[in-house]
Amino acid sequence: MIVVTGATGSIGRALTERLTSSGGHDVLAVVRRPAAHLGCDHALGDFDEPETIGRLLSPGDRLFLNSSLWPGFTRAHRAVIDLAARAGVAQVVTVSVRGATPGAKLGGGMHGEVDAHLRTSGVPWSILQPTGFMQNLPRDVRDGRLYGSYGPGLVNYIDTRDIAEVAATLLTRPVGADGDHVLTGPESLSHDRIAELISAVLGRPVRYVDLPVPEMTAHLERQGVTQPLAGDLAALMAETGDGRWATATTTVEDLAGRPPRALSTFLSEHVHAFDAA
Ligand SMILES: NC(=O)c1ccc[n+]([C@@H]2O[C@H](COP(=O)([O-])OP(=O)(O)OC[C@H]3O[C@@H](n4cnc5c(N)ncnc54)[C@H](OP(=O)(O)O)[C@@H]3O)[C@@H](O)[C@H]2O)c1
Repeated sequence: MIVVTGATGSIGRALTERLTSSGGHDVLAVVRRPAAHLGCDHALGDFDEPETIGRLLSPGDRLFLNSSLWPGFTRAHRAVIDLAARAGVAQVVTVSVRGATPGAKLGGGMHGEVDAHLRTSGVPWSILQPTGFMQNLPRDVRDGRLYGSYGPGLVNYIDTRDIAEVAATLLTRPVGADGDHVLTGPESLSHDRIAELISAVLGRPVRYVDLPVPEMTAHLERQGVTQPLAGDLAALMAETGDGRWATATTTVEDLAGRPPRALSTFLSEHVHAFDAA
């Protein structure tokens, strides 16, 4: 059985769709409340009560471990890893983030701790380390403006469907060596260029507005983001803009057998998401 947590999320939905459409796999979607259109069996499980996920696991299962972040994320994911080890799970494939390390800002620090725990859990593991998600961009554009503190630096975005395809490959082939997999889109672009591409697809002007970190922090606070999150998010944008995570890798193509989707492809397929946002 392939057990998919975070099954209602952007990666999880693409993964269950990919696994069920290719056929021949028993797939169980784990959801915290009944959900429609999953295309496979589902069961209730909540990371806030790790045992509700642990009891769904059997010897030999393959586990896709993923959820959004919340303050209890590290404790909950570590607990589910321990329960997976106890259940005799054959492999855990998890979604982390590029640059994850204990002590890093925001998700990078939380994932760094979970990743370290998984590597010593005794369960065969694959850790996916993607760059930022293209799927974030529609909600970042407001009134013809895309705000950030990235400066002119190159930044890489990946389509979450490509993360799902890599996960599907790893979960359906024989369990191989443990490994970290840095996943990127095919190209790294400045935010000025990203705004140009969005403008072309939407048929209306979108401008990138670059703000120094204190001003970006204040901008986020005006949108309701509280401190210290607002300051950390702005600082993370500036860090990302120095190009430290801009190198594109071939990992998606190596594992999924096809190149990752370009930003222009994602944009042309998601015009409605910008309109809805
Ligand atoms: N956004 C980025 O740019 C970015 C970049 C790199 C890595 N990441 C990582 O990607 C992961 C998120 O992936 P995604 O895009 O698939 O997320 P997503 O679309 O936000 O979906 C999150 C999923 O987690 C589930 N979930 C949240 N809390 C839960 C809980 N307590 N118990 C059970 N399920 C829970 C949600 O269920 P409900 O439907 O019930 O809410 C949903 O299915 C995070 O680990 C994040 O750090 C994100």
